[in-house]
Amino acid sequence: MPEDSPHMVTCTAPVNIAVVKYWGKRNEELILPINSSLSVTLHQDQLKTTTTVASSRSFQEDRIWLNGKEEDINHPRLQSCLREIRRLARKRRSDGKSGVDGVGLSHKVHICSVNNFPTAAGLASSAAGFACLVYTLARVFGIEGELSVIARQGSGSACRSMYGGFVQWIMGCSDDGKDSLAQQVEPESHWPELRVLVLVASAERKPVGSTSGMQTSVKTSHLLKHRAESVVPQRMEEMIKAVRRKDFATFAELTMKDSNQFHATCLDTYPPIFYLNAVSRQVIGLVHQYNRHHGEIRVAYTFDAGPNAVIYILQEHVAEFVQVVRHFFPPETNGGQFLRGLPVDPAVLSEELKQAIGLEPMSKGIGYIISTKVGPGPCVLEDRSQHLLGPEGLPKKNE
Ligand code: DP6
Repeated sequence: MPEDSPHMVTCTAPVNIAVVKYWGKRNEELILPINSSLSVTLHQDQLKTTTTVASSRSFQEDRIWLNGKEEDINHPRLQSCLREIRRLARKRRSDGKSGVDGVGLSHKVHICSVNNFPTAAGLASSAAGFACLVYTLARVFGIEGELSVIARQGSGSACRSMYGGFVQWIMGCSDDGKDSLAQQVEPESHWPELRVLVLVASAERKPVGSTSGMQTSVKTSHLLKHRAESVVPQRMEEMIKAVRRKDFATFAELTMKDSNQFHATCLDTYPPIFYLNAVSRQVIGLVHQYNRHHGEIRVAYTFDAGPNAVIYILQEHVAEFVQVVRHFFPPETNGGQFLRGLPVDPAVLSEELKQAIGLEPMSKGIGYIISTKVGPGPCVLEDRSQHLLGPEGLPKKNE
């Protein structure tokens, strides 16, 4: 390698979907939450961010490209992550530990990041994005150990994307945020029968971003205060138990109740915030009717700061439920592939089931379904051909 060619690392990181939601901060700058939360890490075969970080003494300044477009590196949260990583790198050196060959502490970095899913789909891309950024920067500067406290300062939910499987973000109680971190509850291999369906409702952009939405909720919603203080602590315990025991009915019921309470706090916010739309409400109705028809909880929904539903379901019921979704949300005929990701067997619906659900089909309400499962945490790509930056440290074409 010529002496001046940049040192480069490429990593990938997953999306996570909370089943006990984070909503509200007690410290805006450090991103410290008012309650703990718990999420499921989705598989990177279907949803991931890929990030390359290059460092070189010849770079004049730090730069970043996101999904093909250069963005402002001075974004405060980006700066927090860069500052924290460099601080840890300096500390390692002053503790006498060696750094990475060819990477100087004063070297600037070029960062290039892409998602393998459309940003417009309204999926939580900031969590995977900041997790990937922090994980990759840490590799470049040779930092090991607890990194979720740094990812948290990029975007709160990003700390949970630092691990695979089932992950809790412990809110912590210190003022400096050192104890507000993510921990794996169970690895991705723990519950292989669990499947996830992302029902992508529409490409419309979310009306209120989560950062400003939760600020208004903290200021105005009494329900949010009650939720954080009196509901979530016990719910976290119950949820962890349900995950450990692979008790789907309890897991599913808690997931739906928590999503509903989160959206209730949005309505209790003043002025109110609406993330659910007519499609989301049809999904909610459909899931409850479906479960009622079968006399047990087979399917759970959850919604974040947008109208897309994320469905948790056991593998044995996926085929029938996907057919139910197809029936009640007839897809656009020329709209591309309706079912993406892990294959799903075809199924035939009984008239009895259709009638029991009893809803009016809503055509084109759902654009497509991403079928996926629980997945692993961030990882390094060893193959140099996967770098998103070329030898000069600039994005390769199409990145
Ligand atoms: C509804 O992590 O996007 O998805 O910390 O301000 O970046 P910031 O917010 P963000 O909030 C996510 C909120 C949520 C629930 C969750 O993922 O727990």
